[in-house]
Amino acid sequence: MAIRHFLSLLDLSPTELNHIIKRAIELKALRNQGVNAPLFHNKVLGMLFEKSSTRTRVSFEAGMAQMGGSALFLSSRDTQLGRGEPIEDSARVISRMLDLVMIRTFGHNVLQRFAQHSRVPVINALSDSYHPCQLLADIQTYTEHRGNPQGKTVAWIGDGNNMCHSYINAARQCNFELRIACPEGYEPDQSLLNAAGDRVQMVRKPIDAVRNANWVATDVWASMGQETEHEERIRTFAGFLVDHELMSHASSDAVFMHCLPAHRGEEVSAELLEDNTISLVWDEAENRLHAQKALIEFLLKHSSSIN
Ligand code: CP
Ligand code: NVA
Repeated sequence: MAIRHFLSLLDLSPTELNHIIKRAIELKALRNQGVNAPLFHNKVLGMLFEKSSTRTRVSFEAGMAQMGGSALFLSSRDTQLGRGEPIEDSARVISRMLDLVMIRTFGHNVLQRFAQHSRVPVINALSDSYHPCQLLADIQTYTEHRGNPQGKTVAWIGDGNNMCHSYINAARQCNFELRIACPEGYEPDQSLLNAAGDRVQMVRKPIDAVRNANWVATDVWASMGQETEHEERIRTFAGFLVDHELMSHASSDAVFMHCLPAHRGEEVSAELLEDNTISLVWDEAENRLHAQKALIEFLLKHSSSIN
């Protein structure tokens, strides 16, 4: 049995993805009944962070503890990685001591290089290219509130960033139609669009993406690592705010999602974010906990690590 990594949503088959979402919903129900089965007893997750995090760190760390395992927070500022020890060497050493590793980093190639030299499953906890763990939570959230997203229309408004890329992969895996509205120059990677075919459509105006959509999602205009571009991006992205007015063009059962943290008054209005008849952001954040437990269970079950 080979080692299974989760660097993008495409590392799972649609059937496997479906299984993980179902299991996440099941694990959530069990936790709500006070059941935390010690399925990860003695398992240790390493958490390598090169960027900040609230949800990702808390959900992985709490998730491991609740399932009988533990997690190690490893900031690049405090490890030898931050002083230039090669990724390949770090991967070989760390993966001999732990059972799984999650990495939040800049270049996606860091994850690929780590995974190539790792004896244990590696999880992408956000790179400049993808944020697949967030999509597990988003798909779980849509499924809980509105059912299977297959055949639905999803609108992505704003930057063609790591989240947008993961929505493109989700459109392929879940078979929904995705309409993306980005300002000129901020489009997602063309090769991902080509691979997704006619499931994904690019439009210029947010209203054209949102019309009759079942699910509308956005994200910050300046991602981690783009802080110096923030002011310029605010000017370029004017007109890409998601608010009640924009949502009024969507389907009457449309939901709003945002991976958080949100910038109220920039990409989303404070009123929409707080309107829990439309906005699912708090469930979406909570579901990181449940979806990642299901993911870890799947990766451990389907990997024969040497440890
Ligand atoms: N959505 C998300 O990944 O949040 P954090 O940056 O707080 O982990
Ligand atoms: N696109 C954002 C997502 C944060 C969870 C970033 O990369 O900073």
